[in-house]
Amino acid sequence: MKNILVTGGLGFIGSHTVVELQKTGFRVVIIDNLSNSKIEVLEQIKSITNAKPGFYNIDICNKEALKSFFDTEKFDGIIHFAALKSVSESVQKPKEYFENNVNGLANLLAEIKNRNLNNLIFSSSCTVYGQADELPITENAALKPAESPYGETKQIGEKIINESCASNNLDAIALRYFNPIGAHESAKIGELPLGVPQNLIPYVTQTAAGIREQLSVFGEDYPTKDGTAIRDYIHVVDLAKAHISALERLINKKNKSNFEVFNIGTGKGTSVLEIIQTFEKVTNQKLNYKIVKRRSGDVTSAYADTTLAFNELNWKTEKTLEEALKSAWNWQQKQL
Ligand code: NAD
Ligand code: UFG
Repeated sequence: MKNILVTGGLGFIGSHTVVELQKTGFRVVIIDNLSNSKIEVLEQIKSITNAKPGFYNIDICNKEALKSFFDTEKFDGIIHFAALKSVSESVQKPKEYFENNVNGLANLLAEIKNRNLNNLIFSSSCTVYGQADELPITENAALKPAESPYGETKQIGEKIINESCASNNLDAIALRYFNPIGAHESAKIGELPLGVPQNLIPYVTQTAAGIREQLSVFGEDYPTKDGTAIRDYIHVVDLAKAHISALERLINKKNKSNFEVFNIGTGKGTSVLEIIQTFEKVTNQKLNYKIVKRRSGDVTSAYADTTLAFNELNWKTEKTLEEALKSAWNWQQKQL
């Protein structure tokens, strides 16, 4: 059985990926410092897959703890999710974001090098593109100056991994996620936003559940079909499966260069108003919302060209927006 390390494996995308890894037959060890997740997720994963992953409560910024950890286990691949992820928080606390996301990654890369480990998957983001000049966005699109410290940590992350690949015999894949949403069909794992959600879907589900009074739609004057901003919303389970394809590509040495980048999205753009309409339709809930001014830092439109992932990873999305929104609602109802 191949042994896979998943950093940040108790988080939103990490937990869904651990489930898919175990279903595919991998053994999984998680390290997570619980800064944005709960230990209960471990039991939930077990109740879905009948297998409990290994777990270590370690902060990847703690070099000594990381070093001792790597003394105990050998790995065939590493999926690196552990990072802080709020765009708006990163503007308030840039230092924390650089320390956690960049230094944490550098510590991990140092251990990978010292122990001759290989096969790294990195959680990147479509924020690295900023407002792309052409849509859909291909992997060849220019990376614009980052709009936030968070976006910059992802650009730097890709760069230092690329450099490690060139100098240390490392093979790595960066997956540039578009907008992950939804939850596992069991509703046992999902997204746990701390405090007031910044992202659209948790705000929608919390409004429908009565936790928030009203959803604010940020801007109705964008040059789009209905004036609201467009994103590419991908079901988290489809996203999780992309990690399995990428990992198998590396393990089976099918990669064409030692650092590759793939967009992971649906290829479809959906406006904020379309999200609201679809949510209302699939859940039979009426959503209380109002239009307010644009949120600063938001781009007008971003959706992926997924041709490369389809051709090279043999991966495509299987789930619909309707399924994703329904699963997010089922998960929300279990939180009450
Ligand atoms: P999340 O916050 O739910 O999960 C991240 C996990 O990492 C959490 O369990 C947290 O406790 C852990 N963690 C954070 N810092 C750590 C540290 N120093 N040491 C150990 N563990 C640490 O986030 P997510 O939505 O699952 O995102 C996973 C990855 O995907 C992140 O790298 C994020 O930047 C990236 N990403 C997320 C999105 C999104 O919209 N959710 C989009 C693009 C990219
Ligand atoms: N929106 C609202 N009201 C809200 C929240 C969001 O109208 O209460 C709008 C936003 O203005 C935007 C769209 O809904 O037009 C999506 O916003 P999100 O905050 O859900 O997502 P973003 O595209 O801004 O960013 C997200 C993550 C980033 C990640 C990026 C790409 O927050 O971490 O997707 O993956 F990098």
